[in-house]
Amino acid sequence: MTLLIRNLSQIATPLGRGALRGHAMRELAVYENAVVIIRDGRFAFVGRESDIDTDLRSSIDSDFDARDATAVPGFVDSHTHLPFAGYRETEFNRRLQGATYEEIAASGGGIASTVHTTRRASQQELIDNILARARTMARYGTTTAEAKSGYGLSVEGELKQLRAIRDANEQSPVRLIATCLAAHDFPPEGRSSATARRGYVSTVIGEILPAVAEEKLATFCDVFVERGVFTNEEGDAVLRAGAALGLIPRMHADELSDTGGAALAASLGCASADHLMQISDAGIAAVAASNTVANLLPATSFFLMSDRYAPARQLIDADAIVSLSTDCNPGTSMTESMPMVMQLATLQMKMTVEESLTAATLNGAYSLRLAEETGSIESGKRADLVLLDAPNYLHLVYHFGVNLVTRTMREGEWVS
Ligand code: NIG
Ligand code: FE
Repeated sequence: MTLLIRNLSQIATPLGRGALRGHAMRELAVYENAVVIIRDGRFAFVGRESDIDTDLRSSIDSDFDARDATAVPGFVDSHTHLPFAGYRETEFNRRLQGATYEEIAASGGGIASTVHTTRRASQQELIDNILARARTMARYGTTTAEAKSGYGLSVEGELKQLRAIRDANEQSPVRLIATCLAAHDFPPEGRSSATARRGYVSTVIGEILPAVAEEKLATFCDVFVERGVFTNEEGDAVLRAGAALGLIPRMHADELSDTGGAALAASLGCASADHLMQISDAGIAAVAASNTVANLLPATSFFLMSDRYAPARQLIDADAIVSLSTDCNPGTSMTESMPMVMQLATLQMKMTVEESLTAATLNGAYSLRLAEETGSIESGKRADLVLLDAPNYLHLVYHFGVNLVTRTMREGEWVS
């Protein structure tokens, strides 16, 4: 099957099979009045219609009129907590009246309340929840999403979430990449004492991660390193244990307090260090000198009504690799929308639109070890793209608060 998409007002994409770091994130390829050709699920040509060679032209067997839409790569959302059951709108409402996230967590809400509802849910309910969210993601242009466990916090609970991701992936419009976040918090029954906490870390290292690796349920392993949650030493131990089992490390780092998590993530060779709202200058320098992606989640600051956003400008100016993700979860970021995240990245973190597009596509793909396959519109890569009802890519941010995505394609198939 060879498909021609013609009458694109513009194609805007970063280029490359690796990440773009620092100021190179601004360098998009922009084609005006362009076409793409997709053959067997991959891009076979990108550019002006008059430049298509005769062999390729004669192989075209279907044609799609884009009616002046703009094409950008399918978004890569490289940090989500998709498999959860139950919502926390009441807590949200309490936060609107002045309660803080940490106060709510201390009174039994927060992650613990989602752990209760997720443990009670059947695997099928989790699959249905994941698919509903994946359909919303596709409507907003996402074609690849990472999905973390972390609301089971027991051997069976974590395996149930990861099996739900695996099974949902067979029907999902969005490609799902699984991460085991068993070290998201201490379980309600294992947090009362230092001994109970040590016991849970041993369960993660000795039972959960080996079971996950044995069943090949995850590509990545993650830890929430935070004051009052896992210490740097525990994070280090969990991620080293995961790595020894073939699970690539990522880390929730320096979100609510600066523990030196970003520097630890860089020293462990983590694929990403995520959040970074409280990252120190030393942390910025360490991440910038590494291939660990600084994965920024501005919707979380927004939703927590915080003035504190991750220092995106400092990270980019220091030559870091920066990506953007939703952090979709019921407590701190109840959204599936990558365009919303790009709007916050530009208007609140002062990233340029070009940097935001690279961060939301190619650099996210790099952190998921998929940059050779997706994240940009160029020959040879999987045909993952989004059509926007817009004359050019600037409208993605400029025309905010509405959904400009008219169609989403994953590997040559329209999925939304
Ligand atoms: O990424 N940082 C920890 N985990 C989530 C919040 C999860 C929740 O509140 O349910 C986050 O923000
Ligand atoms: Fe998160």
